Amino acid sequence: MKTIGLTYDLKTDYQFKEGDPADANAEFDAPSTVEVVTKTIEANGFRVKRIGSISKLLEEMNSLDVDMVFNISEGSTIGRNRESQVPILLEMLGIPFVGSDALTLGMTLDKIMAKKIFIYEGVPTPKFFEVKSIDELADTDHCKFPMIVKPRFEGSSKGLSEKSRVEDMDGLKRQVELVTKIYKQPALVEEFISGTEFTVAVVGNEDAEALPVVQVKIDGDLNLGDRFYTFARISSDRLEYVCPAPISKELEKKMKDYALKAYHALDCRDFGRVDFRVDKDGNPYVLEINPLPSLSTEDVFMLISKVTGTTYEKMVGRIINNAFKRYGLN
Ligand SMILES: Nc1ncnc2c1ncn2[C@@H]1O[C@H](COP(=O)(O)OP(=O)(O)O)[C@@H](O)[C@H]1O
Ligand SMILES: [Mg+2]
Repeated sequence: MKTIGLTYDLKTDYQFKEGDPADANAEFDAPSTVEVVTKTIEANGFRVKRIGSISKLLEEMNSLDVDMVFNISEGSTIGRNRESQVPILLEMLGIPFVGSDALTLGMTLDKIMAKKIFIYEGVPTPKFFEVKSIDELADTDHCKFPMIVKPRFEGSSKGLSEKSRVEDMDGLKRQVELVTKIYKQPALVEEFISGTEFTVAVVGNEDAEALPVVQVKIDGDLNLGDRFYTFARISSDRLEYVCPAPISKELEKKMKDYALKAYHALDCRDFGRVDFRVDKDGNPYVLEINPLPSLSTEDVFMLISKVTGTTYEKMVGRIINNAFKRYGLN
């Protein structure tokens, strides 16, 4: 029987420091998710060795007896390379792992780097500019209000509240100040796309497949208009996923094509998820790509598994098999 090591960071292990925002541990997994992922890997016929965070991996790196690592670690430092820490160490140790490598994780956690690649590849993404410090905010470049101000390298809607959508210079300054001071990183300012929201999961490598499109519903409404995915909404039950999304074949195909293009452009491996907003005229824009999407049973992979007539176990099994095949180990 083959052994799969599991690297992860737990929400409950995070030690809040003075000055940390309430969402400081939002990227990490709940113990229940690690539990489910462990059981699911076991159900696929593997022994599981729980490793945990990068510190545990460093302690045990010379005595690890695993055939493969399933990595869902987010890394706990601030910066665009935090998700890359576990993959780079595994690569150095010569241990195969499920999911994308260090470079892809860095290039995608850094939303601006990813957007630059999208533009080169012809994948539409909202117009944007970067603000490193409030002092350099003289004009709004070529972008029009309303805009949204996000941290340049975070996920899980960290740093996003109702106030992140700004209509004027005062709001813009306020949010840039928040991102630079509290989240300690440059702000990514984008034109706000009013309309609807979708996410597209992708599984595979050369044979990558875009799975049925999932639509985001907020307060029971699919027409989000100016509403968006804030940290407070994620933590409530005001947000739901609908799959298959009740949209035209044409829009479904457009988003699947862009999702695959984005996935290959960033060299994603085994699985990932691409987030979209669609404006009132039906034009899709890729917001970001997540090579470490949540595998929580409340998240989209579970829902998509049900809709496509398979199970969560088989979906995770397919992701693991993609990795074995990629290394020529199957
Ligand atoms: N340009 C935009 N226009 C409208 N809504 C946006 C835009 N950018 C982000 N959002 C909203 O904020 C949420 C989080 O943004 P996203 O770029 O996906 O970052 P992350 O999920 O990594 O925190 C999106 O799901 C969406 O609801
Ligand atoms: Mg997102």
